[in-house]
Amino acid sequence: MKGRFLVFEGIDGCGKSTQINQLINWLPTSGLMPQNSVLHVTREPGGTALGNALRELLLHPPKEILPGSLSELLLYSADRAQHVLEVITPALENGDWIISDRFSGSTIAYQGYGRELNLDLILQLEKIATQGLVPDITFWLDLSVEESLDRRKNTNHDRIESEGATFLGRVANGFDVLAKERNWTRVPANLPKEVVAKKIKESLSIKITGKRISSNG
Ligand code: TYD
Repeated sequence: MKGRFLVFEGIDGCGKSTQINQLINWLPTSGLMPQNSVLHVTREPGGTALGNALRELLLHPPKEILPGSLSELLLYSADRAQHVLEVITPALENGDWIISDRFSGSTIAYQGYGRELNLDLILQLEKIATQGLVPDITFWLDLSVEESLDRRKNTNHDRIESEGATFLGRVANGFDVLAKERNWTRVPANLPKEVVAKKIKESLSIKITGKRISSNG
């Protein structure tokens, strides 16, 4: 594929959205992207119209349609299959760049480690839903469970966010394992957001060009 596929992962409250917003302001003028390539920002669940409908079902379902763990896994996988087909693959084939707020790592961490569903099954589903597509770079915003809960203590929680500290601890451990196994870029997320943004830009620059960025932006 001609484009580049960047992914942000991490537990709830780790600051993915803030960091993605910082990056989209900088990346198109950074000199890292080829001039004719476009930057797309997307998310899971919800990068497509079908995905947005699935997102509502997954995160804010009416009581009578609460999914069990296996259905939850299949719904996240369905969201991903559509996302890869409709959004990610066409953009990459076009030579564009894509930033996705979450990808298959989230399913391994949340449904595999968090819900404790069978990891082999999840890895098989990952291959099916992604059609073998692997991100070029995954940034893992590493935040402690305590900090995550503290940052979100005054916010409304969706269905997954309401699972509590034990569940979140398993998810955080899952991300830790995955980051090592898959050679993700770990970024400490408990620092001021400008510092986190700088670290992300620096490490992206090194990965793309092999050189450090000279600007302070
Ligand atoms: P997110 O968009 O990060 O939430 P918010 O917009 O509130 O910051 O993610 C939605 C939730 O879905 C989050 O709690 C993690 C969960 N999730 C899974 O459990 N499995 C998955 O495969 C994905 C992509 C997300």
